[in-house]
Amino acid sequence: MARRAARKRDVIERMDEVVDDFSKRVKFLNEPITVGRAKTFVRQHRLNTRQRNSVLKLRVATNCPIWDVKLGIIEACAEEIIADNKHGGGKAHWQILEELGGFIGMDIKNDIRKTEPLPSTRLCWLAWEALMSNRHWLEGLVANTCAERTNMPGYGTGAIRKKGWFGVERERWQKLFKLGEDQLDFFELHTEADIEHSNLGWHNVARYAKEYGMEDQVVEACRVNLIVWENYLNGIAAEGDRIKR
Ligand SMILES: [Fe+2]
Ligand SMILES: [Fe+2]
Repeated sequence: MARRAARKRDVIERMDEVVDDFSKRVKFLNEPITVGRAKTFVRQHRLNTRQRNSVLKLRVATNCPIWDVKLGIIEACAEEIIADNKHGGGKAHWQILEELGGFIGMDIKNDIRKTEPLPSTRLCWLAWEALMSNRHWLEGLVANTCAERTNMPGYGTGAIRKKGWFGVERERWQKLFKLGEDQLDFFELHTEADIEHSNLGWHNVARYAKEYGMEDQVVEACRVNLIVWENYLNGIAAEGDRIKR
């Protein structure tokens, strides 16, 4: 009986619950930002965005037989790694992140671009590879988009729930590094772009999960992918705390 009730619950509602739990529990989101954590985020996340959008997410596009969805994935990847003409003034997201690093006093050429992935980042790439490469495309699409969902308002508590994760990062980086409005584009653009990027996932799960009988699988994909994201961010936090500045 309880099982039947669980089945019947809307799959989007169940995925939203998983994202909400992520936003509430992950330390990086809920603990204060520090100089060390922010700089480590710039170094690692530039690499991570490039890896995910030039390798992992494209594999999901390869596996997807629905033409419009396939193109939507490729389009989102192109904004991240080639040029975002809609929200990023023609720059790729990783370029805008590099610039943010410059604004907080980092050397782009000799520091940011020379960074190697942390062991924790490498482990996460391997874990995501397992979750994105040889999987049903709908599970892959959840993997592509579930973390971007946290940038939409409505998950977690307090300010995160009001403004989304990057809405909060925007404000606290502004305070910590005394940044001007025009230096915070990285977070600003994600509030808009990630609504589109994550809607691609959420709308298609709503559309296809039932048709394919995959409701439980997509919810589980969301849960497990966010466990990897939690470990990725824990790795950044730990390294940030180790280097301090
Ligand atoms: Fe992005
Ligand atoms: Fe995105």
